[in-house]
Amino acid sequence: MAIRDILIVPNPVLKQVSKPVERVDDDTRALMDDMLETMYAAPGIGLAAIQVGVPQRIIVMDLAGKDEEPNPQYFINPEILEDVEETLPWEEGCLSVPDYFEEVERPERVKIRYLNYDGEEVTEWAEGLYAVCIQHEMDHLNGVLFIDHLSRLKRQRAIRKVQKAAREKALEAAE
Ligand code: NI
Repeated sequence: MAIRDILIVPNPVLKQVSKPVERVDDDTRALMDDMLETMYAAPGIGLAAIQVGVPQRIIVMDLAGKDEEPNPQYFINPEILEDVEETLPWEEGCLSVPDYFEEVERPERVKIRYLNYDGEEVTEWAEGLYAVCIQHEMDHLNGVLFIDHLSRLKRQRAIRKVQKAAREKALEAAE
């Protein structure tokens, strides 16, 4: 397993639409293992493959609380089959938009279908944080970031903040 670099905005790779995985094999699992390790190290609760520069429809998540056992989840080629009208506002963040948080409203329940780590098909309802997170991560597979749900002004402010922090970090490293 290896920790990979996480792409941050405004890297154009993040806007790419990811391709379906044709076969779940050991290479797929090795990528998911790397993604999980990268996500834990960040730390974060969800990561899409495109965030480490791989345009495949793969997501890893772990929504376990601080004092709970780790609960890694893997989603290959996830689809939303159904959602509900009721929305849930949630303050979201993203490893590709570091240190920026803003409220986004999404359906509070979604019925999803995906392949798991072993390539088995799973269909289930996700709700609450699970619903928020899977919708956020599935957006990544379509080249959409949570800041794309915000006003243009807020989106620009977020990107400027990330760029400024990246510049300061680069300067510090150069000193
Ligand atoms: Ni994200």
